[in-house]
Amino acid sequence: MAKERPEKADETEQMIEREVGKEAAEGGGAGDGRDMRAVLLSGFGGLNKLRVARKVMPEPQEGELKIRVKACGLNFIDLMVRQGNIDNPPKTPLVPGFELSGIVEAIGGNVTGFEIGDRVMAFTNYNAWAEVACTPAEFVYKIPDDMSFSEAASFPMNFVTAYMMLFEVANLREGMSVLVHSAGGGVGQAVAQLCSTIPNVRVFGTASSFKHEAIKNSLTHLFDRNADYVQEVKRISPDGVDIVLDCLCGENTGKGIGLLKPLGTYILYGSSNMVTGETKSFFSFAKSWWQVEKVNPIKLYEENKVMAGFSLLNLLFKQGRAGVIKGVVDKLLALYNQKKIKPLVDSLWALEEVKEAMQRIHDRGNIGKLILDVEKAPTPLMANDSTETSEAGEEEEDHEGDTENKERMPFIQ
Ligand SMILES: NC(=O)c1ccc[n+]([C@@H]2O[C@H](COP(=O)([O-])OP(=O)(O)OC[C@H]3O[C@@H](n4cnc5c(N)ncnc54)[C@H](OP(=O)(O)O)[C@@H]3O)[C@@H](O)[C@H]2O)c1
Repeated sequence: MAKERPEKADETEQMIEREVGKEAAEGGGAGDGRDMRAVLLSGFGGLNKLRVARKVMPEPQEGELKIRVKACGLNFIDLMVRQGNIDNPPKTPLVPGFELSGIVEAIGGNVTGFEIGDRVMAFTNYNAWAEVACTPAEFVYKIPDDMSFSEAASFPMNFVTAYMMLFEVANLREGMSVLVHSAGGGVGQAVAQLCSTIPNVRVFGTASSFKHEAIKNSLTHLFDRNADYVQEVKRISPDGVDIVLDCLCGENTGKGIGLLKPLGTYILYGSSNMVTGETKSFFSFAKSWWQVEKVNPIKLYEENKVMAGFSLLNLLFKQGRAGVIKGVVDKLLALYNQKKIKPLVDSLWALEEVKEAMQRIHDRGNIGKLILDVEKAPTPLMANDSTETSEAGEEEEDHEGDTENKERMPFIQ
């Protein structure tokens, strides 16, 4: 995952280490207006590895914009980063987060097209979950006046991923059919909305049953996540579907390819199945990849099927395709302005509530996107509640910070 220009990422890691070293004490900073609040991941593992700390505020380098952050997107990949469940994980401590919205506060050298005060959304290669972030201008996009900061922080990762898969990789056209897992989540809802912009596209989705009432109008057919979706799809469409979007990996890969019509496209874009508890499970990792390894390219040839993979972060930060993504963001903003798409925000959380926000995804509770709202004050703790009772919870060796880990009620939009 995610390190275009390794020297840049390394520099970022060193910067974090330097900054953390400079902190006068844990929770303390310069206190002279040049420090900021940020979420810090102290090491890979469970929720107790996260805390809010004061850090030295970054300044924009050549080609970068400094953004006063208003809202940050919380994505499934952030859970995987926390666990160290990604390829080539960077060194900790680090500030997590890959997307944000806010206001341009300073402009580095050689940047054109932006002014101080612009309302923007942006991708960052980590470091988004803070009061201030710097990122290259090629990853920053101005937002419409009527787009809220929480909508803007929900937009880039989910809608660009959905758009790229549907239109750039799979070539979605009128009359086609699509299967998407986690249909009630951030990417799932973006897929459903984008499919609705093309006539007569049928969308089959899987999601936890309690979400069905809320999302039923966005999909054509909805199945419980534990149902035998292969049988359900075949019952409705014996030929299968044209596009399978798989973020579950493992045995779903074989099932998804099996469901394709001739000339259909299967896209692997996630491995949520590898998250089986609060900390990384080597067993689920090995099991998932063992199943994927069994795909036979000769069979794909004989059956006229396409198998593809998509990773937005690699495309942006490793493979230098910011220009392609800028073009896609322009198209998506046009759809937003035409009121054809609109991010679905699940809930807003203060930076200090990051553990509870992550727990909500572990518990499969979200419908749409979770947002860290930088200006939001933490909601008072609920008496006698603890996130330790969750479905996702596993025994943690390190119980540092557990006293903070009480359940809070999210602010539901
Ligand atoms: N390749 C890329 O460029 C890219 C970009 C963005 C996201 N992604 C991937 O797309 C998928 C969705 O991402 P998202 O950020 O939009 O998250 P999301 O769908 O909002 O994630 C939460 C939902 O995932 C489902 N889920 C499936 N397995 C789970 C597990 N083991 N633990 C907890 N929940 C699980 C749950 O919904 P149900 O219970 O309703 O199924 C849960 O509510 C993830 O796999 C993510 O890594 C890939």
